[in-house]
Amino acid sequence: MRVVLPMPGNQQLAASLALALGAPLAEMETRQFPDGESYVRLLSDVAGREVVLVCTLAAPDAQFLRLVFAARTARELGAASVTLVAPYLAYMRQDKRFQPGEAVTSSYFADLIAKEVDRLITVDPHLHRHKALGEIYRIPALALHAAPLLANWIKRDVERPFIIGPDIESEQWVSEVAGRAEAPYVVLNKERHGDRRVAIAVPDLDAWRDRQPVLIDDIVSSGRTMIEASEGLVAQGLKKPVCLAVHALFADDAFARLSDVTQRVVSTDCVPHPTNLIPVAPLIADALRQHL
Ligand code: R5P
Repeated sequence: MRVVLPMPGNQQLAASLALALGAPLAEMETRQFPDGESYVRLLSDVAGREVVLVCTLAAPDAQFLRLVFAARTARELGAASVTLVAPYLAYMRQDKRFQPGEAVTSSYFADLIAKEVDRLITVDPHLHRHKALGEIYRIPALALHAAPLLANWIKRDVERPFIIGPDIESEQWVSEVAGRAEAPYVVLNKERHGDRRVAIAVPDLDAWRDRQPVLIDDIVSSGRTMIEASEGLVAQGLKKPVCLAVHALFADDAFARLSDVTQRVVSTDCVPHPTNLIPVAPLIADALRQHL
């Protein structure tokens, strides 16, 4: 029998999953000792249960040890299996040693996770130079896709959409969303010069002036990619875009700055944020029913 166990901050998604699966919601207690170390205690019986541990991995460094302690405790207390549901999977972008001496953290993080859980389910991990999670995860690792959910939202809420991806990496999901939403699409050209410095080249889009631009990206972090792309579109006389993100990380003041240059910002609830309008629980619940 399954039991859904949320890490702190993941209760809402966990409750939706538990409801969709008809599984009980388990509880844990966590707190920090005065010296900053973590205390973790499972309050529900997990012996013999398939534990679905829910922990989206935005801001991973602050959460990782607690996650490890919870997963190990569940195993020691006799859980039949531990499945990590991490709708946002961290550390996927450092997938290469760009500069001599750099840590290739996508692989190291995958190793650490694989030691602690039996399988992983995530949504649109940032696969670029790694083409599949199986290249770095040595446990079953399932990547679900939010494209159908994004396309449904666009079909329902945007008139005459014109889909835009900010860089070549985004073509994988932008082309699928555009196909499903029956809308034209284009992919821009991005060069990254630093964590918060990107340059985006926008081709001549005059033919699409009467359409509503919808910018889509997997991750919004510093917001610079979406901001530069939005400004480039408006400079060409296009309408302010609707921005759609799968993973709303929004570091620092990224959301406020992006809101200034766009018509609307919308995201899935892979990472809790006020822009969440597209729930992923049904997608994840279907996957859990099929694979667990
Ligand atoms: C990277 O290639 C991703 O697809 C996103 O475009 C990127 O992570 C966005 O980051 P930022 O918001 O910091 O520009």
